[in-house]
Amino acid sequence: MLDISHLTKTYHTKSGEIYALSDINLHVSRGEFLAIIGTSGSGKSTLMNILGCLDRPDTGRYLLDGHDVLSLPARHLAEIRNRHIGFIFQGFNLLDKMSALENVELPLAFAGISKRERREVATSALCRVGLSERLRHKPSELSGGQQQRVAIARAITQKPSVILADEPTGNLDRESGAQILEILSGLHASGATIVLITHDPDVAKKADRIVEISDGKIKST
Ligand SMILES: Nc1ncnc2c1ncn2[C@@H]1O[C@H](COP(=O)(O)OP(=O)(O)OP(=O)(O)O)[C@@H](O)[C@H]1O
Ligand SMILES: [Mg+2]
Repeated sequence: MLDISHLTKTYHTKSGEIYALSDINLHVSRGEFLAIIGTSGSGKSTLMNILGCLDRPDTGRYLLDGHDVLSLPARHLAEIRNRHIGFIFQGFNLLDKMSALENVELPLAFAGISKRERREVATSALCRVGLSERLRHKPSELSGGQQQRVAIARAITQKPSVILADEPTGNLDRESGAQILEILSGLHASGATIVLITHDPDVAKKADRIVEISDGKIKST
Protein backbone atom coordinates (compact mmCIF):
# COMPACT_ATOMS: atom_id res chain seq x y z
CA MET A 1 0.00 0.00 0.00
CA LEU A 2 2.80 2.39 1.02
CA ASP A 3 6.28 1.76 -0.23
CA ILE A 4 9.10 4.18 0.37
CA SER A 5 12.75 3.72 -0.37
CA HIS A 6 15.90 5.72 0.24
CA LEU A 7 13.97 8.74 1.45
CA THR A 8 15.90 11.72 2.77
CA LYS A 9 14.74 15.10 4.02
CA THR A 10 16.99 17.95 5.10
CA TYR A 11 15.79 21.25 6.52
CA HIS A 12 17.99 24.21 5.72
CA THR A 13 17.92 26.63 8.63
CA LYS A 14 19.92 29.72 9.52
CA SER A 15 21.85 27.73 12.07
CA GLY A 16 22.69 24.99 9.60
CA GLU A 17 21.34 21.81 8.03
CA ILE A 18 19.04 19.49 9.93
CA TYR A 19 19.00 15.96 8.60
CA ALA A 20 15.42 15.11 9.59
CA LEU A 21 15.26 11.84 7.62
CA SER A 22 18.10 9.86 6.18
CA ASP A 23 17.72 6.84 3.92
CA ILE A 24 14.32 5.71 5.18
CA ASN A 25 12.95 2.46 3.77
CA LEU A 26 9.48 1.39 4.79
CA HIS A 27 6.79 -0.86 3.42
CA VAL A 28 3.25 -0.91 4.76
CA SER A 29 0.95 -3.62 3.44
CA ARG A 30 -2.69 -3.10 2.62
CA GLY A 31 -4.77 -3.59 5.76
CA GLU A 32 -1.79 -3.35 8.08
CA PHE A 33 -1.85 -1.39 11.36
CA LEU A 34 1.63 0.05 11.85
CA ALA A 35 2.89 2.18 14.72
CA ILE A 36 5.89 4.47 14.33
CA ILE A 37 7.54 5.37 17.60
CA GLY A 38 10.46 7.62 18.38
CA THR A 39 11.53 10.39 20.71
CA SER A 40 10.77 14.07 20.15
CA GLY A 41 12.63 15.39 17.12
CA SER A 42 13.37 11.93 15.71
CA GLY A 43 11.55 12.72 12.44
CA LYS A 44 8.12 11.16 12.96
CA SER A 45 6.02 14.13 11.82
CA THR A 46 8.38 14.81 8.94
CA LEU A 47 7.85 11.22 7.78
CA MET A 48 4.09 11.43 8.27
CA ASN A 49 3.88 14.66 6.25
CA ILE A 50 5.67 12.94 3.40
CA LEU A 51 3.53 9.80 3.68
CA GLY A 52 0.47 12.08 3.59
CA CYS A 53 1.74 13.94 0.51
CA LEU A 54 1.77 17.21 2.47
CA ASP A 55 5.49 17.56 1.94
CA ARG A 56 8.12 16.21 -0.43
CA PRO A 57 11.42 14.56 0.44
CA ASP A 58 14.71 15.65 -1.13
CA THR A 59 15.41 12.26 -2.59
CA GLY A 60 13.87 8.81 -2.62
CA ARG A 61 10.90 7.01 -4.07
CA TYR A 62 7.36 6.77 -2.73
CA LEU A 63 4.68 4.51 -4.15
CA LEU A 64 1.20 5.07 -2.73
CA ASP A 65 -1.15 2.35 -3.88
CA GLY A 66 1.07 1.92 -6.93
CA HIS A 67 1.21 5.66 -7.79
CA ASP A 68 4.71 7.10 -8.03
CA VAL A 69 3.57 10.19 -6.12
CA LEU A 70 6.84 12.12 -6.12
CA SER A 71 6.77 12.37 -9.89
CA LEU A 72 3.34 14.03 -9.86
CA PRO A 73 2.70 17.78 -10.06
CA ALA A 74 1.24 19.48 -6.96
CA ARG A 75 -2.34 19.61 -8.23
CA HIS A 76 -2.40 15.92 -9.05
CA LEU A 77 -0.76 15.14 -5.72
CA ALA A 78 -3.57 16.94 -3.88
CA GLU A 79 -6.09 14.80 -5.75
CA ILE A 80 -4.31 11.59 -4.76
CA ARG A 81 -4.12 12.81 -1.17
CA ASN A 82 -7.84 13.60 -0.99
CA ARG A 83 -8.76 10.29 -2.52
CA HIS A 84 -6.44 8.02 -0.54
CA ILE A 85 -5.57 9.56 2.80
CA GLY A 86 -7.43 10.40 5.99
CA PHE A 87 -5.56 12.53 8.54
CA ILE A 88 -5.92 12.61 12.29
CA PHE A 89 -3.76 15.11 14.18
CA GLN A 90 -2.83 15.61 17.81
CA GLY A 91 -4.50 19.04 17.85
CA PHE A 92 -7.73 17.79 16.15
CA ASN A 93 -7.61 20.62 13.51
CA LEU A 94 -11.34 21.36 13.59
CA LEU A 95 -12.89 24.69 12.59
CA ASP A 96 -14.15 26.46 15.73
CA LYS A 97 -17.08 28.27 14.16
CA MET A 98 -18.56 25.15 12.62
CA SER A 99 -20.62 22.41 14.24
CA ALA A 100 -19.38 18.82 14.40
CA LEU A 101 -21.62 18.01 11.44
CA GLU A 102 -20.34 20.95 9.36
CA ASN A 103 -16.72 20.08 10.12
CA VAL A 104 -17.26 16.55 8.85
CA GLU A 105 -19.21 17.78 5.81
CA LEU A 106 -16.58 20.27 4.69
CA PRO A 107 -14.19 17.95 2.82
CA LEU A 108 -17.20 16.31 1.18
CA ALA A 109 -18.24 19.73 -0.12
CA PHE A 110 -14.75 20.19 -1.59
CA ALA A 111 -15.15 16.80 -3.23
CA GLY A 112 -18.30 18.07 -4.95
CA ILE A 113 -20.76 15.82 -3.14
CA SER A 114 -24.37 17.03 -3.02
CA LYS A 115 -25.72 18.69 0.10
CA ARG A 116 -28.14 15.89 0.87
CA GLU A 117 -25.52 13.18 0.51
CA ARG A 118 -23.01 15.17 2.58
CA ARG A 119 -25.45 15.36 5.43
CA GLU A 120 -26.18 11.64 5.24
CA VAL A 121 -22.55 10.55 5.04
CA ALA A 122 -21.39 12.96 7.78
CA THR A 123 -24.21 11.98 10.11
CA SER A 124 -23.47 8.31 9.70
CA ALA A 125 -19.72 8.85 10.29
CA LEU A 126 -20.45 10.78 13.48
CA CYS A 127 -22.81 8.03 14.65
CA ARG A 128 -20.08 5.50 13.94
CA VAL A 129 -17.76 7.26 16.41
CA GLY A 130 -20.52 7.54 19.01
CA LEU A 131 -21.44 11.21 18.56
CA SER A 132 -25.03 10.98 17.32
CA GLU A 133 -26.07 13.21 20.24
CA ARG A 134 -23.51 15.90 19.46
CA LEU A 135 -24.05 16.73 15.78
CA ARG A 136 -24.82 20.43 16.33
CA HIS A 137 -22.16 21.10 18.95
CA LYS A 138 -19.22 23.32 18.15
CA PRO A 139 -15.69 22.06 19.00
CA SER A 140 -15.58 24.38 22.04
CA GLU A 141 -18.68 22.61 23.38
CA LEU A 142 -17.06 19.18 23.11
CA SER A 143 -14.49 17.37 25.24
CA GLY A 144 -11.04 16.68 23.78
CA GLY A 145 -11.90 13.04 23.18
CA GLN A 146 -15.14 14.02 21.45
CA GLN A 147 -13.30 16.56 19.27
CA GLN A 148 -10.85 13.86 18.25
CA ARG A 149 -13.79 11.60 17.37
CA VAL A 150 -15.19 14.37 15.13
CA ALA A 151 -11.76 14.51 13.47
CA ILE A 152 -11.87 10.73 12.94
CA ALA A 153 -15.37 10.97 11.47
CA ARG A 154 -14.07 13.66 9.11
CA ALA A 155 -11.11 11.46 8.15
CA ILE A 156 -13.20 8.40 7.28
CA THR A 157 -16.10 9.84 5.27
CA GLN A 158 -14.32 9.46 1.97
CA LYS A 159 -13.24 5.90 2.75
CA PRO A 160 -9.52 6.59 2.52
CA SER A 161 -7.25 3.65 1.76
CA VAL A 162 -4.85 4.86 4.46
CA ILE A 163 -5.44 6.59 7.80
CA LEU A 164 -2.46 8.57 9.10
CA ALA A 165 -2.68 9.51 12.77
CA ASP A 166 0.01 11.73 14.34
CA GLU A 167 -0.15 11.46 18.15
CA PRO A 168 -3.96 11.17 18.06
CA THR A 169 -4.10 10.50 21.79
CA GLY A 170 -1.37 12.97 22.76
CA ASN A 171 -3.76 15.60 24.12
CA LEU A 172 -6.18 13.20 25.77
CA ASP A 173 -6.55 11.56 29.15
CA ARG A 174 -6.06 7.81 29.35
CA GLU A 175 -9.73 6.92 29.03
CA SER A 176 -10.46 9.16 26.03
CA GLY A 177 -7.21 7.98 24.49
CA ALA A 178 -8.28 4.36 24.91
CA GLN A 179 -11.59 5.16 23.20
CA ILE A 180 -9.79 6.68 20.23
CA LEU A 181 -7.52 3.63 19.95
CA GLU A 182 -10.58 1.39 20.08
CA ILE A 183 -12.11 3.31 17.17
CA LEU A 184 -8.86 3.00 15.20
CA SER A 185 -8.75 -0.74 15.92
CA GLY A 186 -12.35 -0.99 14.68
CA LEU A 187 -11.45 0.79 11.45
CA HIS A 188 -8.48 -1.53 11.05
CA ALA A 189 -10.76 -4.55 11.60
CA SER A 190 -12.98 -3.29 8.79
CA GLY A 191 -10.02 -3.19 6.41
CA ALA A 192 -8.34 0.22 6.76
CA THR A 193 -4.57 0.56 6.55
CA ILE A 194 -3.44 2.59 9.56
CA VAL A 195 -0.17 4.35 10.37
CA LEU A 196 -0.15 5.58 13.94
CA ILE A 197 2.58 7.88 15.20
CA THR A 198 3.18 7.98 18.92
CA HIS A 199 5.90 8.37 21.50
CA ASP A 200 3.93 6.14 23.91
CA PRO A 201 4.95 2.45 23.82
CA ASP A 202 1.59 1.44 25.39
CA VAL A 203 -0.28 3.12 22.56
CA ALA A 204 2.02 1.53 19.97
CA LYS A 205 1.19 -1.94 21.33
CA LYS A 206 -2.26 -1.70 19.72
CA ALA A 207 -0.63 -1.99 16.30
CA ASP A 208 0.33 -5.16 14.37
CA ARG A 209 3.88 -3.95 13.98
CA ILE A 210 6.08 -1.29 15.53
CA VAL A 211 8.84 0.57 13.74
CA GLU A 212 11.17 2.79 15.71
CA ILE A 213 12.67 5.92 14.25
CA SER A 214 15.69 7.48 15.86
CA ASP A 215 17.63 10.48 14.61
CA GLY A 216 15.93 10.27 11.22
CA LYS A 217 16.71 6.59 10.71
CA ILE A 218 14.61 3.46 11.10
CA LYS A 219 15.97 1.37 13.94
CA SER A 220 13.98 -1.85 13.78
CA THR A 221 11.36 -3.28 11.45
N1 LIG B 1 10.05 23.19 9.13
C1 LIG B 1 11.18 22.84 9.73
N2 LIG B 1 12.31 23.58 9.58
C2 LIG B 1 13.47 23.23 10.16
N3 LIG B 1 13.63 22.13 10.93
C3 LIG B 1 12.56 21.35 11.13
C4 LIG B 1 11.28 21.67 10.55
N4 LIG B 1 10.39 20.72 10.93
C5 LIG B 1 11.08 19.86 11.70
N5 LIG B 1 12.37 20.22 11.83
C6 LIG B 1 13.45 19.49 12.57
O1 LIG B 1 13.51 18.17 12.05
C7 LIG B 1 13.66 17.21 13.07
C8 LIG B 1 12.50 16.23 13.05
O2 LIG B 1 11.30 16.92 13.39
P1 LIG B 1 9.88 16.20 13.50
O3 LIG B 1 8.86 17.25 13.66
O4 LIG B 1 9.74 15.29 12.34
O5 LIG B 1 10.06 15.35 14.85
P2 LIG B 1 9.01 14.44 15.63
O6 LIG B 1 9.60 13.08 15.75
O7 LIG B 1 7.67 14.55 15.00
O8 LIG B 1 9.00 15.13 17.07
P3 LIG B 1 7.79 15.29 18.14
O9 LIG B 1 7.63 13.96 18.81
O10 LIG B 1 8.30 16.33 19.08
O11 LIG B 1 6.57 15.73 17.40
C9 LIG B 1 13.77 18.00 14.36
O12 LIG B 1 15.12 18.14 14.68
C10 LIG B 1 13.14 19.34 14.02
O13 LIG B 1 13.72 20.38 14.79
MG1 LIG C 1 5.82 15.32 15.70
